Amino acid sequence: MNFGKYTRIRLGTIPPNVLVPFDLYLKVGSHFVHYLRNGDQLSPEKKDQLIAKAADHFFILSVEFPRFKNFVNSLVTGSQLDTTEKASVLRESSMALVEELFESPHVERALIQSREVVDQFVSLMKQDAEAMGQLIGLSGHDFYTYNHSVDVSIYSLGLGQILGYQGDDLKIIGLGGLFHDIGKRNIPLSIICKQGPLEDNEWEEMKKHPEYGLAILMEQDIDERIKACCFEHHEAFLGGGYPRDIKGEEIHHMARIVSVADTYDALTTKRSYQDPMTPKAAIEFMRDRISHKFDPEVMKAMLEVLERMEESQEAS
Ligand SMILES: [Fe+2]
Ligand SMILES: [Fe+2]
Repeated sequence: MNFGKYTRIRLGTIPPNVLVPFDLYLKVGSHFVHYLRNGDQLSPEKKDQLIAKAADHFFILSVEFPRFKNFVNSLVTGSQLDTTEKASVLRESSMALVEELFESPHVERALIQSREVVDQFVSLMKQDAEAMGQLIGLSGHDFYTYNHSVDVSIYSLGLGQILGYQGDDLKIIGLGGLFHDIGKRNIPLSIICKQGPLEDNEWEEMKKHPEYGLAILMEQDIDERIKACCFEHHEAFLGGGYPRDIKGEEIHHMARIVSVADTYDALTTKRSYQDPMTPKAAIEFMRDRISHKFDPEVMKAMLEVLERMEESQEAS
C-alpha cells in the first residue's frame, strides 16, 4: 500500500539473517521511525520482538519499491532460503499486491503487477516439485478476500498443472484465480465482513460480484479467459449456477478449474461464524453433496493436488 513517501510491506517478506538492501521504517502513531539501515540484517530475536508486539508491517521509501521487488525475486529464485521459507516470502509479498487489487483506486497498476506474482508462483513450482504443496500448506488462516484470492490462484495453478496446462496458459489460470472475486470491490464491506449468514437482499447483492468483476476487467486490456474465470466461477456444471445459469462445456474450462479451487478454499478456511472443514471432509462434501457444481475431471485433479499437499507436509 502506497502512503506517498512510504510504501507498506509485510513483515513476512523480510526473513531474518538476510542482508536487506534498503532502509526499513516502522510506523509509530502517525510517525515513521527508522528501524533498520540499508545493508543490515534483521536478527531472529528482533523479528520475534516485533511479532510479539503484533507489528505486521514495515515501511520502505516508495522510491525503493523496485529494489524491494528485486529483493523478493532474488530470495525466491536464489539458494539462501529453503522451499518453505521461499513459499512464505512469496505468499506474503503477493498478499500486499492483492490488498492493493481490492483497495487501491489504481486497479490497473495492481493488475499489471500481479503478472509478476503469478510468474513467481509458476517458476517456484517449476523449480521445486515440493513448492506447490508448501505454498498451499501455508494457506488457511483467517478468511479475507486477499488471502482467499492468493489461495485460489495457487490451487488453480496446481489443478491447471495436473490437467496439462503449461507456459502462458498456466499463468492465465493463475491470474484467473487471483482475480476471480475482484468484483467484491463493489460489494459493501458491511456485507463482505458480516458475522453470520446473509439476509436474502444481502445475498442478492453478493451474487452480483461476477458481473461487477467482469465490468472491472472489461475496462482493462486483459485476456478473455481471465474474464471468463471471473464471470463464470459460480456457474454449476449441471446447471443452476449464476449469473447466467449455463452448464457443462458452455462454462469455460478455466472457470471450471477456478470453481473447484474456490469452493475448496472457502470450505477449508476459517470464517468468523463457521469452523473450517478438514481437507478430507471438504472433498467428501464437494463429491457427495454438491457434486452437480463441478466438472468431474477437475474434481479428480483436485484429489491429486491434495495428495501432493499431504506428501509435502509429511516431507517437511
Ligand atoms: Fe466468487
Ligand atoms: Fe471466491
